[in-house]
Amino acid sequence: MGASRKLHMARVFLVVAALSVGAAAAAQDLERGEQLYILCKQCHGPAGAGNPEALAPAIAGLPAWYSNAQLQTFRSGGRGLHPDDVGGLRMYPMARWLESDADVAAVAAYVASLPPARPEPVLEGGDPARGAQMYQGVCIACHGPDGRGNEAIGSPSLLDSSDWYLLSSLKKFKAGIRAGNPQNPNSTLMRGMAAQLADEQAMKDVIAYVLTLRDGN
Ligand code: HEC
Ligand code: HEC
Repeated sequence: MGASRKLHMARVFLVVAALSVGAAAAAQDLERGEQLYILCKQCHGPAGAGNPEALAPAIAGLPAWYSNAQLQTFRSGGRGLHPDDVGGLRMYPMARWLESDADVAAVAAYVASLPPARPEPVLEGGDPARGAQMYQGVCIACHGPDGRGNEAIGSPSLLDSSDWYLLSSLKKFKAGIRAGNPQNPNSTLMRGMAAQLADEQAMKDVIAYVLTLRDGN
């Protein structure tokens, strides 16, 4: 075997070794995430499908970057401390229970690995045709034509959440309950958007349209 071939083999070996160390670390993270998720189950459910009675939304399949960011925002008190934020006040201590950034990342990775649950809609009376105008005029810029969101802006996918939670979040953004904390500029951005939704009917309309985007996305 010539010297250059040996060198090549050595490089291949190093790359393969690095990849398997990476894969082993990712598997370990998921295992750690699964252990941590035992706490989350009581409200978000074993499959992450959420539970309206606990005010806990579906989280299965949320991208890891988004869950990670939200958990960190709860932990730092940038979300969930407003006195009228009943759901946020329940979630805040749960995020505080996660002790390290590594644990936050591990549980976020585990949540992302769960297949999206896409719970059946429970809201009634939304008009998807009216909602389409609003979505295509405003929301599309950040949440995308397919509703999948945009990591660069910090805007989440809207496809996998519970519809009642989308409504409650829009109301809370508009009322400044899930917004306004200087540590959470993304929520302040979203408050300005929710301000364009005149009333609950307009919110239900846009959510009814978002639900139509689940088909094929
Ligand atoms: C005591 C019940 C409870 C437990 C336990 C709980 N959560 Fe939550 N979680 C909630 C509620 C309620 C909300 C909704 C907050 C709101 O209305 O703004 C929420 C919201 C979230 C969100 C934000 C979703 C979004 O779309 O913005 C994430 C992510 C999340 N929880 C992850 C977790 C993880 C991970 C755990 C376990 C470490 C956990 N939760 C444990 C009740 C709980
Ligand atoms: C300028 C960018 C931008 C536009 C336009 C925008 N959003 Fe958002 N949206 C965001 C960001 C950023 C977040 C994350 C906020 C946070 O981190 O608290 C968000 C969050 C949300 C959430 C919360 C989802 C969850 O899982 O908790 C809902 C619901 C939502 N947006 C709906 C809408 C609707 C409906 C419109 C159109 C009326 C819209 N957004 C327009 C940037 C935008």
